[in-house]
Amino acid sequence: MKAIDIQNELAKVLFTEAEIQNRLKEIASEIDAEYADKDVLLVGVLNGALMVMADLSRHLKIHCETDWMAISSYGAGTQSSGIVRILKDLSTTIKDRHVLVVEDIVDTGLTLHYLLENLRSREPASLNLMTLLRKPEALQAPVDVKWVGFDIPKEFVVGYGLDYAGKYRNLRDIGVLDPKMYS
Ligand code: PRP
Repeated sequence: MKAIDIQNELAKVLFTEAEIQNRLKEIASEIDAEYADKDVLLVGVLNGALMVMADLSRHLKIHCETDWMAISSYGAGTQSSGIVRILKDLSTTIKDRHVLVVEDIVDTGLTLHYLLENLRSREPASLNLMTLLRKPEALQAPVDVKWVGFDIPKEFVVGYGLDYAGKYRNLRDIGVLDPKMYS
């Protein structure tokens, strides 16, 4: 039986593992400088941000704590609606804390627009957003991104935490799925 290699199910690679890590190291050094004299709480948004959170946090040289939220956006198929339900809230209070939200992608921006408003209402000392990917052409709601890894066109991408039907998150690169893989 032929061995499966999910890498072969990509039509093209957009960013290799090495390119992703190099960019995360650059961003981490900027975050080190920004929070040099502050305690920062990294807030990862499950599930997609799992890889970014793991790698970005290990590139940081400052002290940081981590917490997670899980949210679900109601929408048709792959489209966000902007109506967001919190499935798992933070374990800690963020009032007067320096919070950095860590995301894999800002697509329409609807999810992050809601989430940032929600977190801002909890009165953190500061609130910033880092996202590995952003699709400027897809943006439907204003989202203030402090650090972005890569701006990409309006293509459906998988890998490095990003999924199609729950799969491909474990791919080390980020790429565009071969159309014949869509069922
Ligand atoms: C992705 C991503 C953001 C959201 C962005 O999560 O992690 O949370 O979509 O989309 P938007 O800008 O169009 O609102 P997704 O809902 O795919 O869940 P996942 O992280 O579990 O894959």
